[in-house]
Amino acid sequence: MCGIVGYVGQDDAWPIIYEGLKRLEYRGYDSAGIAVVDDTGALHFRKTVGKVSGLDASILGAAPRGSLGLGHTRWATHGAPSHANAHPHTDCSSRVALVHNGIVENYLELKRRLTASGHVFQSETDTEALSHLVEEGLSLGLSFEEAFLRMGRMVKGSSAITATLQGEDGPICALRLGYAGGIVVAHHEGQGIVASDLPALLPVLEHGSGTPSVGFLEGGEMAVVSRDGVRYFDLDGNAIVKQPRRVSRDDVLVDKGGYRHFMLKEIMDQPQAMTAALRDRADFANGRVELPGFPLPPSAIGALERVVLIGCGTSLHAAQVGRHYIERLAGIPAEAESASEFRYRDPLIGPRTLVVSIGQSGETADTVAAMHLAREKGATLLTICNAEESQAARIADGALYMRAGLEVGVASTKTFISSLTILHLLAIYLGHARGRLDDAATRRLVDELSRGPGLISDLLGEADSYRDLAYRIGHYGNFLFLGRGASAAIAAEGALKLKEISYIHAEGYPAGEMKHGPIALIDPGMCTVALAPNDVLRDKTLSNIKEVKARHGVVVAVLTDGDDEAASEVDYPLFIPEAPELLQPILTTVPLQLLSYHIALMLGCDVDQPRNLAKSVTVE
Ligand code: AGP
Repeated sequence: MCGIVGYVGQDDAWPIIYEGLKRLEYRGYDSAGIAVVDDTGALHFRKTVGKVSGLDASILGAAPRGSLGLGHTRWATHGAPSHANAHPHTDCSSRVALVHNGIVENYLELKRRLTASGHVFQSETDTEALSHLVEEGLSLGLSFEEAFLRMGRMVKGSSAITATLQGEDGPICALRLGYAGGIVVAHHEGQGIVASDLPALLPVLEHGSGTPSVGFLEGGEMAVVSRDGVRYFDLDGNAIVKQPRRVSRDDVLVDKGGYRHFMLKEIMDQPQAMTAALRDRADFANGRVELPGFPLPPSAIGALERVVLIGCGTSLHAAQVGRHYIERLAGIPAEAESASEFRYRDPLIGPRTLVVSIGQSGETADTVAAMHLAREKGATLLTICNAEESQAARIADGALYMRAGLEVGVASTKTFISSLTILHLLAIYLGHARGRLDDAATRRLVDELSRGPGLISDLLGEADSYRDLAYRIGHYGNFLFLGRGASAAIAAEGALKLKEISYIHAEGYPAGEMKHGPIALIDPGMCTVALAPNDVLRDKTLSNIKEVKARHGVVVAVLTDGDDEAASEVDYPLFIPEAPELLQPILTTVPLQLLSYHIALMLGCDVDQPRNLAKSVTVE
C-alpha cells in the first residue's frame, strides 16, 4: 500500500516521478505529492488530495524543475486523506523530504518525545515523526545518510522509507524495515531510481538503452542512490553487496491493451493466464503433472498429514476451492483459513503439514506473517504467487508462480483463475504421488484441464451480454450469492467482486446455510445470484432457488448450458459450457466477474481503483 518513487539523474525529475506514481497508483490513491530539489538546491513540495492526476503539471501550472526528487501516492492509515497528511513530509526547517509506506508502530512515543524537544508537527500521520527524526540527527552533526540510518534504527514496525535532502546532490536514501512494502532500486546510465514496484521504472527505461540492473531491498537494508551509483548498507551501517538482477521491458510494462479498464483487460486475458499456469506443468502428451518448484521430493509426499491453505480476500477464496481439490484428488485432510486469523492463533501444524500460501502480490502483510509462523512451526511452505520477487517467494521453501503477468486492476481477476489452475495441478500431483490417482485417472484429469482455456474463451465471447443484465439488476441495493461445495467459495468471490467495485452490499453464503438466517432477508428488493452448475449438488441448490422464488426474491443463476429446467425457475439464467466438474469453479467465476464489472460501470464507479482499497495490502 502506498507507492513511492524517487529519482536522481540528469533529466527533469517531475515527469519521471509523476509517470512512475501513475503506474503505482494501484497501491493507493487517497492523496499524492512530489518534492523536487531545484538547481539552487531548494526543496519544493506539491500535494493533492485524491489521485495522482491532481499533480499533472497542466493542472498545477508550472511544476518545480530539478533533477532530484521523490513522490508518493497514499493509502491512508494515520490521518484522513488531506493536503496536510499527504506525503512527502518534512521537518521544522523544510530541509528533508520523506515518503513512507507502512506503519510506524511507536510513532506516538516518538512524536511525544520530539514535540517535547520543540519539534512542531503539521500532520496527523505516523510518517511525519520520521522526517523530524532525520532532522534531529542532522542537528546532532550527523551526515544525511547517518541521520537517516539513525532514524531507521529508532522505528518499530514494517515500513519502506525514502528520503532526500535539500542541496542538489541528494542522495536519495531508501530503507526497508520488516517485511511490508517492497523497495526496488535501479541505476541506469547515470540515473538512479527508487520505487515500490517495477512498473515505476518504465519512464527511465524508455529514455535509455538496454535494461537496467535492479536491487530489491530486504528487511533491514538501506540503499544510498546518487548519480554515481548505488551503495547498500545494513542497519548497523556496514556496507553490503547485493546481487543485481536484470529486468526486461515486460516486467515493467503496464498497458490496457485497448480495453477501457485494466479489469476488463485482465478478465479477457484469463485464457492466456490459465495457459501460462499450465505451461511446463501439465504434460498433455503423457498425461502427467510435473511441478518444478514443489518443495518436497515425491517420497516425502506420502508422509504429509495435512494441507493448510492460507490467503486473504480473493486468495482466501482460491484457498477454499483448493481445499476441495486437495481433499478430493489427493485424499489429504485440507483446510483453508484467512491468513489474518491463522497468524494470531497457535495452529497445530508441524513437519508433516504442507502450508500453501496464496497471493497475487506475495506481499500481503497478514499472509507473509502467517508464513513466518508456519516456518517457525516447522511446516513445509509452498507459495502460489504472481510476483516472483516477493516476500512470499523468498520465505517459502518452494514457489509455483502464477505467470499471469502484472495485474493492475485492484479487483483480482486473472490471478484468481491462475490460482485455481495451479491448485488443481497441485491436487493432481499430490494425488498421483500418494497413489490415490492412478496413471489413467491422472491422464483424464490432465486432459480435462487442457480444455480450460478454450472453455473460458467461449464464455468471454459473450462478454458484452452482461451489460444488459447489469442494467436490469444493477439498481438492487442488496445481493446474496449462494453456492454449495466449491461453488460456495465462488459465491463468496462473486460477492467480494461486486461489493469492492460497485459498493453494493453483497453477501456470499453456502446455499445450505441460507435457511439458517439469510432467508429472512429475501424480499422483492433482494437479488440472489445462485451458482447451480451441473454437479452432484445442483439439485440441492435448485431447491434453495425455489425457496427464494417462493418469497418473491429475484434470482440470477449460473447454470450449465441446456439446463432448461433450472432456467425456467429463475429470472435471469446465465450459462457456462458443459464442463468437467472440477473445472466448473473456474468457469462460474467468469460470469460473476463480468456482471460486477458492468454493474460498477453502469453505476459510474471507478472500476480499476475503487475507493478505500489498494492492490497490495502491506499493513495489518
Ligand atoms: C481482490 O479483488 C482484492 N483486491 C483483495 O481481496 C486481495 O485479493 C487481497 O488483498 C489479497 O491480496 P494478495 O492476493 O495479493 O495476497
